[in-house]
Amino acid sequence: MRATEIIEKKRDGGELTTEEIRWFVEGYTRDSIPDYQAAAWLMAIFLRGMSPRETLDLTLAMADSGDRLDLSPVIPYAVDKHSTGGVGDKVSLVVLPLVAAAGVPVAKMSGRGLGFSGGTIDKLESIAGYRVELSDEEFMQQVRDHGIVLCGQTKSLAPADGKLYALRDVTGTVPSLPLIASSIMSKKLAAGANAIVLDVKVGSGAFMKHVEEARELARIMVEIGSGAGREMVALLSDMNQPLGCAVGNALEVREAIETLRGGGPADLRRHCLVIGAHMVRLGRQETGSGALDEAIAELADLIDNGGGFEKFRELVNAQGGDVSMVDDPQRLPRARLVEDIPAGADGFVAAVDALTVAKATLELGAGRARKSDPIDPAVGVVVRCKVGDQVRAGDPLFTIHANDGAKLAQARALLEQAVQFSEGEPQPLPAFYDTLYSEN
Ligand code: URA
Repeated sequence: MRATEIIEKKRDGGELTTEEIRWFVEGYTRDSIPDYQAAAWLMAIFLRGMSPRETLDLTLAMADSGDRLDLSPVIPYAVDKHSTGGVGDKVSLVVLPLVAAAGVPVAKMSGRGLGFSGGTIDKLESIAGYRVELSDEEFMQQVRDHGIVLCGQTKSLAPADGKLYALRDVTGTVPSLPLIASSIMSKKLAAGANAIVLDVKVGSGAFMKHVEEARELARIMVEIGSGAGREMVALLSDMNQPLGCAVGNALEVREAIETLRGGGPADLRRHCLVIGAHMVRLGRQETGSGALDEAIAELADLIDNGGGFEKFRELVNAQGGDVSMVDDPQRLPRARLVEDIPAGADGFVAAVDALTVAKATLELGAGRARKSDPIDPAVGVVVRCKVGDQVRAGDPLFTIHANDGAKLAQARALLEQAVQFSEGEPQPLPAFYDTLYSEN
């Protein structure tokens, strides 16, 4: 087979065979296909799409590109979660310790920022010393000893996705339904979970802009997971405005800690409780949705009694992080320049555009434009208003945290366009649009 022929076939709208997909994925993983050909192939898939059969083949080829973890010696029934990517999405940092504190072990591998969306691993790296790279053995050992592990994808697990993910980030090929579905599900299948909760984001700050598109992505992923024998729950959640208030790596860690300590924004707390409750129920192999409220109340108690926060400290300590930064989040990296953007007039907040906030945060240096770019953990934006709030002229809409005056000015120019006002009180945005379950 030749890479050019496979690229051309997809470019011209053809349907690739299982063998062609496997050959391409294996070749790229082994470095016999270079980045420029893989980039062209990704763009062809982005533009032409993939049939459900091709998407399944791509997922399985990526899952089989490295080792498949067997967690059964340490967790008889493992539950995992994954978000399709959003703005201010620090949910894993809150949910994992809560679920682990409830006695359901969690072993999760997360990604770096992708496109405009942030990544859990970049966030965790703002805690000095936190090791995001663990070997498979360390991963297993930690979940055995602590019931919680949160690290980057190990090199041996779905290495094809590791490479393709980084390449997509810098080639404009992120928001593609088959590429997102295969990227997420290949990792989840290889990581060995028995049950998976998917947080499928929809709106301006998500890769899926419309509910129907997001439902289709959720449906494909639930189908892939169920077909592979996994118990699946997929929630469609709003991402038209940022989740919580903080957007930017250290700022988000700080907000996650506040939430685990019983404070933090109400929307973030509620979101984490709902996602966590689904994980707890799946982890205990409970079926039906009737008792979700009980699991929500159990996790809320673990916030109130400090159990979740203690588990987060244990996680950071186990992975070599500086726990004094968790105890005193003022010690996390902080930006030199902090500036509020005030409202120009009185009114109700009708929209806080998540994508514009994400772009401002990228301008400040919180994300990457090229694969090798460093990121600045300290910078970002704190959103000070939510859709439905009534504001007076002069009230702060955003606080910018920057380390460079020119970048601050660029972020300010973007953020000045990010809020829309209305005279009357607008409808609040729903937190969730729908929940899909597997039919195993
Ligand atoms: N998260 C992933 O892991 N992959 C994607 O493609 C998008 C979000």
